[in-house]
Amino acid sequence: MLDELSYAANDPMRTYRAKRDSARKRVTDKYTILGFISSGTYGRVYKAESKDDRVVHAIKKFKPDKEGDVVTYTGISQSAIREIALNREISHENVVALKEVILEDKSIYMVFEYAEHDFLQVIHHHSQTLRTGLSMPLLKSLTYQLLNGLLYLHNAHIIHRDLKPANILITSAGVVKIGDLGLARLTYQPLQPLFAGDKVVVTIWYRAPELLLGAKHYNKAVDIWAVGCVVAELASLRPIFKGEEAKLDSKKNVPFQKDQLLRIFEVLGTPHEREWPGLKDLPEYQNMKRLDYYENHLLEWCKSRLRPQQGVDLLQKLFIYDPDRRLTALDALRHPWFQEDPIPAKNVFQSVPASQIPPPRRITHDEAPSMVPVAAANSQTHAQIAQAQAQAAAHLSQQFMGSHPLSQQSGRAGSVASFASLSGGTAAGGSGHPRKKTRMG
Ligand SMILES: Nc1ncnc2c1ncn2[C@@H]1O[C@H](COP(=O)(O)OP(=O)(O)O)[C@@H](O)[C@H]1O
Ligand SMILES: [Mg+2]
Repeated sequence: MLDELSYAANDPMRTYRAKRDSARKRVTDKYTILGFISSGTYGRVYKAESKDDRVVHAIKKFKPDKEGDVVTYTGISQSAIREIALNREISHENVVALKEVILEDKSIYMVFEYAEHDFLQVIHHHSQTLRTGLSMPLLKSLTYQLLNGLLYLHNAHIIHRDLKPANILITSAGVVKIGDLGLARLTYQPLQPLFAGDKVVVTIWYRAPELLLGAKHYNKAVDIWAVGCVVAELASLRPIFKGEEAKLDSKKNVPFQKDQLLRIFEVLGTPHEREWPGLKDLPEYQNMKRLDYYENHLLEWCKSRLRPQQGVDLLQKLFIYDPDRRLTALDALRHPWFQEDPIPAKNVFQSVPASQIPPPRRITHDEAPSMVPVAAANSQTHAQIAQAQAQAAAHLSQQFMGSHPLSQQSGRAGSVASFASLSGGTAAGGSGHPRKKTRMG
């Protein structure tokens, strides 16, 4: 017994870890927490100010993995690992920048550049306060910058997979920042098929028809579909395809998403093999054929919502059923709509009167105490993160194609080394998001 104790006291690794941990700066040494912003699917987000330079940041603290109602402490969530691994490697004006990752008392904190607004806030502000649609310069600039960020991600072989208004941020300088890479995946030579193992893919209102019809293989085109839904929502101030999600049955079979498909068909018409040759091979094809038949009514839908003919043309092409024929991000950026007046602006709010800019993000203070970490550990996490990080770094440094002439910034490969000292952790839970991600199977 005594031997064991004296061994523990002299264990060089233990001494080393204790020294390392005490040298490590804590979140609250570096940042003043200003308040709580939001509790999303995977984490809680806080507004914080850097003590060094007083720059405001958003700090995301991760929740533990949850299996049903049981919280499991098997290391940090897959979502956190992905988000960190991918975020460390990417840098683009229209993708939210990760400033640093802090590990403290087994909790993981991601420090992001702060964005004062998001697309959902812009939509609410227009529908509830201003009671008018977005101006054309604003709508076009938001769309352009969103596509520009997406082109960068797609060139880096990253599918976002959860594009929706709440995940697309805007800084106070009027720059769009794609956020929430928690569901993003690398598409270049994936080790697993994209379908395997992933329970969660895209909030149902923004989910592409190939996913709704059970496609096992899907690609970047799912993000383009989501962009179409987001643009339509910006133009009309409400979700264009607001379906009810069919829930998993007791055997956890993935149900046929009849209602969501009907919402789409009502506007875009029932898809036909002529325009989408792969349609008949999709698992839900027979179920789909049993639904009522609809004609395409998109032009009518646009009439009172999206005026410019070129804008309508772009939307039509973002909503092409066949994923192989759907516009790519690059095609979309080159669309004539962006070449005609008003030309997209670098500051999306450039032509918006100050009184019409959405108010700053609301923060609350009652949630702030949960920044105090909840202890739980697993040494596997070091390895998990290092592995995911190495994988992402390898893919991206070898395969990254750099920026496109249309985008302003170039890519860079990050370093893996800083992940070596990470340890695992958890965070306090929180309430759900109103437009939450949904499980697929
Ligand atoms: N960089 C940021 N700046 C300001 N607010 C942010 C930032 N990142 C996220 N948020 C806010 O927190 C919410 C949840 O963050 P998100 O990254 O989407 O996490 P989740 O996976 O929990 O949805 C966002 O919808 C947004 O309101
Ligand atoms: Mg989110």
